[in-house]
Amino acid sequence: MKQNVPWWKSGVIYQLYPRSFLDTDGDGTGDLPGITAKLDYLADLGVDGIWLSPINCSPMFDFGYDISDYREIDPVFGRLSDFQHLLDQAHQRGIRVILDLVVNHTSHLHPWFVASRASRDNPKRGWYIWRDGKNKKPPNNWLAAFGGGAWQWDEPTGQYYLHSFLKEQPDLNWRNPEVRQAIAEEMRFWLDMGVDGFRLDVINFFVKDENLRANPFGLGPTPRPYDLQKHIYDRNRPETLDVVRVFRGLTDQYDDRMMVGEVYTPPPGDPKLSATYLGTGEDALHLSFDFSIIYSRYGAGPFMKAASQWMESIPWAGWPCQVLNNHDQPRSLSRYGRPKHAPGRAKILAALLLTLRGTPFIYYGEEIGMVNGRITRRQLVDPLGKKYWPLHKGRDPERTPMQWSNAPSAGFSTGDPWLPVNPDYPLINVEAQQQDPNSLLHFYRNLIALRRKTPALSLGDWQPAAGSNRSVMAYYRSLGADRLLVVLNFDASVAGIDFLATDPARVVFGTHRRKGEIVSAPRLKLAPHEVLILG
Ligand code: GLC
Repeated sequence: MKQNVPWWKSGVIYQLYPRSFLDTDGDGTGDLPGITAKLDYLADLGVDGIWLSPINCSPMFDFGYDISDYREIDPVFGRLSDFQHLLDQAHQRGIRVILDLVVNHTSHLHPWFVASRASRDNPKRGWYIWRDGKNKKPPNNWLAAFGGGAWQWDEPTGQYYLHSFLKEQPDLNWRNPEVRQAIAEEMRFWLDMGVDGFRLDVINFFVKDENLRANPFGLGPTPRPYDLQKHIYDRNRPETLDVVRVFRGLTDQYDDRMMVGEVYTPPPGDPKLSATYLGTGEDALHLSFDFSIIYSRYGAGPFMKAASQWMESIPWAGWPCQVLNNHDQPRSLSRYGRPKHAPGRAKILAALLLTLRGTPFIYYGEEIGMVNGRITRRQLVDPLGKKYWPLHKGRDPERTPMQWSNAPSAGFSTGDPWLPVNPDYPLINVEAQQQDPNSLLHFYRNLIALRRKTPALSLGDWQPAAGSNRSVMAYYRSLGADRLLVVLNFDASVAGIDFLATDPARVVFGTHRRKGEIVSAPRLKLAPHEVLILG
């Protein structure tokens, strides 16, 4: 049966931020040979695919999310030959490679924009969104996601251009068929090389309202300084789904490729919207990120609610994915604070991520319990932090170097790291955890291995269990006759759950009980932060 299941459904995907993974040339910035050097580590962890945050040529105003050449590798990461070697070595180990496709916008230094900007009658003018002002003011009231207006006045040709992020990230005009064609060609370039798919950056921003209607103002439930508007006309336009369908047609011409889309929404997230980008489940994105769980409060109740809403939103033929961390959000163990509870919470969160229904995405360092680094104002490099300090300290803290060992700079680099290494590295690092069978790293590895040999866990249905309460989240995973019960105590104290006579009772996996033990009392007592899988 397993042969027919696509890898991106049954597998586990690992996101790595190439600047911060491993530096092999001593310049302080991670590189492609560094990733290749750690493929055995990733294979050993048990991941089926890696997603690399952008590695294309970029002036780095937004650290690679502003691309100036889609076909070249930025020299800071290496050369195209380094990438081909990485791809080849990953494939030899059965690891797929997903690239970040950042095509809502390009860099302002991309030759397309340079041409578009040159004159009003340049053939590339219509590749971006240019408009006259209204009474010396921008064409409408749209705001950029990173703050300020979304329109930049450009003196030489006397018009404004649209940028949903920084002014160095002009938005492509997705209503222009030439743009669609050009991006399809860039995608083919990588697909032909053997790349296994793409993570589509801010997929829900692509097509803008044709008439550029003004957005209403209105604060969301947890307003951020840069999210003051209801983005009705500049995001989430239904026409974007047509673009996604064309992309799907293209990737389907190749074997086994996949696309996962970032549906960017401010807190509290919008699972229904995220799921719309899956189309019928077979004609649009393979996977889409929903951030409700990331935005959720910590606790059995809030996570059960977020997980249920996400599962209910997935179309019948579609498939969810799960994520607790990425390069834009504070790391989960920092979000959920309370350092004294971190070790227990880390395992609970790992178990949640790896046993919910859907493809799990692990963010580098999550598997060893990395927390946010402390970045001073002087050390700050993220444009978002520079703009909003101290209200929003930017995204540098979740992007600090991977902690490999207790060697200087955590074994990340022999040079001066581009962001400071978290000073907790002598305690929290891969090498130390490899030697400790009770470490978080072993916990991730063991649970991933269990998923691999237990189809009910990777592919089964998901059903909340009746006894779930404020402390304990419990759910069934079932496939055919196989049924597992996952029980997670989110609290730092002992908690109970009522047990049904028909519930599975043999311990398959857990933090506090022996494998094979039979658990059958009517009321089950769970140790603080206990993870228990019964089958
Ligand atoms: C996405 C990326 C983020 C980037 C933004 C603009 O949200 O994840 O890092 O800054 O898009 O490309």
